[in-house]
Amino acid sequence: MPSKHSTPSTLTASTAWQALIQHQQEMLGFNLNQAFADNSLRAELLSLESCGIYFDYSKHLIKPQTLKLLFDLAAQQQLQSRIQALFAGQHVNNTEDRPALHTLLRYQDSAHVPRSLQPIFADVVKVKQRMREVSQQVLTGQIRGFSGKPFTDVVHIGIGGSDLGPAMIYQALSAVHQPGIRCHYVANICANDITETLAALNPHTTLFILASKSFTTLETLENANTARRWLLASLEQPEAVAAHFYAVSAKPEKAAAWGVKPEFVLPFWDFVGGRYSSWSAIGLSLCIGLGYEHFEALLSGAAAMDQHFLHAAPEQNMPIILGLLGIWYTNFWQRQAHAVVPYDHRLRRFPQFLQQLEMESTGKCANLDNQQIDYQTCPDIWGEAGSNSQHSFFQQLHQGSDFTPIDFIAVASAPHGLQSHQDWLLANCFAQSRALMLGQTDNTPGLEQHKFMPGNKPSSTLMIDTLTPANLGALMALYEQKAFVQSVIWHINPFDQWGVELGKKLSQSIKAEIDRNADFNTLLADGFDASTASLLQRYLHKAD
Ligand code: F6P
Repeated sequence: MPSKHSTPSTLTASTAWQALIQHQQEMLGFNLNQAFADNSLRAELLSLESCGIYFDYSKHLIKPQTLKLLFDLAAQQQLQSRIQALFAGQHVNNTEDRPALHTLLRYQDSAHVPRSLQPIFADVVKVKQRMREVSQQVLTGQIRGFSGKPFTDVVHIGIGGSDLGPAMIYQALSAVHQPGIRCHYVANICANDITETLAALNPHTTLFILASKSFTTLETLENANTARRWLLASLEQPEAVAAHFYAVSAKPEKAAAWGVKPEFVLPFWDFVGGRYSSWSAIGLSLCIGLGYEHFEALLSGAAAMDQHFLHAAPEQNMPIILGLLGIWYTNFWQRQAHAVVPYDHRLRRFPQFLQQLEMESTGKCANLDNQQIDYQTCPDIWGEAGSNSQHSFFQQLHQGSDFTPIDFIAVASAPHGLQSHQDWLLANCFAQSRALMLGQTDNTPGLEQHKFMPGNKPSSTLMIDTLTPANLGALMALYEQKAFVQSVIWHINPFDQWGVELGKKLSQSIKAEIDRNADFNTLLADGFDASTASLLQRYLHKAD
C-alpha cells in the first residue's frame, strides 16, 4: 500500500506521470481485437528481436501514443544517465554506498570495460580462471575425494540469491549436463531438504560447495554443519572435510574459519548483489555440472543483452520496453500482480528465480532520497510452467474479476525429439495468449454469463529458438535490466534488501526462548504478543 501523503511526490505530480494518468482514461475503451483488425502491421510494429529472443508485445493495451508517453516518463526520470551510471560503476546502491557491478562479471573481454573498472575486471578474470581450473580438475578426476575416488555428485548449499539462480540454470540446461556428475541444490533449513538429497548420495564421492556471500546465513550454515556431520559419519577422519568442501563467499576468511581449506575458497565481491550473483563464483557448481565453456556461454548471452540495453534506442530496447509495460499496468491500471508462464518444463523454476530478482529488488516503499513514496512498486510476481498451470490458475486469469498481465515464455525447439509433444505445447502457449485477448460470448440458456469471457487481457510472448546457455543468459539479463529500468522510474534502490532483516532478527530471539523452554507468562513478560506466545507454547509442548 503506498503511504498516504498530504502532497503528491515529485514523481506523481510530474508532467509525464500526469499525462499517463490522462492517457489511461482515454484507453479505457481500447479493444485489442479491434486494434489488430484496424492495423495489419500491429504484430510487426510491436515486436522486436535481439540476443536470440523474439519479443512480441503487440497483445498489450497500448497504442503508439502510450509508448511515446512511457518513453517520456523514462526520459524525465533520466533513465539513460542512470544506465550509464550502473555500467560505469557509480554507487547506484546508495544505501550501502557501493556500485552494483554484476555486469562486469560477464564481459567477454576487456575491450568494453570502462577504464576505471579495468583493475577490478582483472580480478574477475583471475577468479574465472580459478573456476575453470577447479571445474576441469573435478571433471577429469584430478581433484578427488578423501578416499581417492572421483566425485560423482556436487551438493551446492546456499539460499536466496546463492541458490535460486544456479538451481534454476542447472535444471534449465539439462541438455548440456556433463556425464558422470550430478549437481544438487540444498537451501531450506527444513532438514527434509538436505536429508532427502543426501539419502541417495555416497559420502566418498560427494563434493560440497558452500555458497554464501555473507557466510553468516543461518540456513546455509546449519545445512553446512549437517553436511559435515554426514560426511564424517562415514569418512571418520576430520581431514576429510578439507577434501570435500569448497566455499564461495565475499567473506573468504569466514569460510576458512568454518573449516574450508583457504585454497578451496573462491571469492566474490561486495558489489555483486546476492540475486545477481549466478555470474560470479556462486556459479561454480554450474562450471562443473555444465562444463566451463557452457558457463562462459551463459555469461556471453548476458553480456550481449547488456550491450543491447546500453546501446539500443528506447523504441528498440527490450529491457526498457518490458520494464515500461510493467510500469503502465502497475501504476496506471493499478495491477498488483504479474504472472510469468514458461512453456518449457526445464524452465519451471524460472518464475521462482524472478520472484526474488524482482520482488527483492523493487519491492520497496522508500525512495532514493529516504522518503516514503505514494505510488505502487513491484507487483506480486508469480507463475508456473505451462501447460500445467492451464489446469490450475488459468481459470482466474480468464474469468477472474481483475486482469493480470502475463509474460509467456516459449521455447521453439526441444532436444527430446518428441515433436508431437512440442507441437501441442506451443499450440497451447499461443492458444492461451489468444484466448485471453479474444474472449468469448455464449448463448447457452442459463449459462450466458458463466461462459462469458471478457477477453482484452494483455500479455507478452518471449520466444527463443533453443534453450542454449547463451539464450538463457540473455533471458536472465533481460529481466535483471527490466528490474533496473523500473527502479529508475520508481526512484528506488534495487540493490539493497533491508526488509528481510527484521524477520531474521526476531527468529534469533524466538529461538532463544525455545532453547530455554520459556513458559507463557515469561514470554509475555519478555514482550511477546499473546499470539506468538501461544504458538510457541503449542510448539514447545507438542509432545506432552
Ligand atoms: O535474506 C535475503 C538474502 O540476504 C538475499 O538477499 C541473499 O541472496 C540471501 O539472503 C543469501 O545470502 P548469503 O549469500 O549471504 O548467504
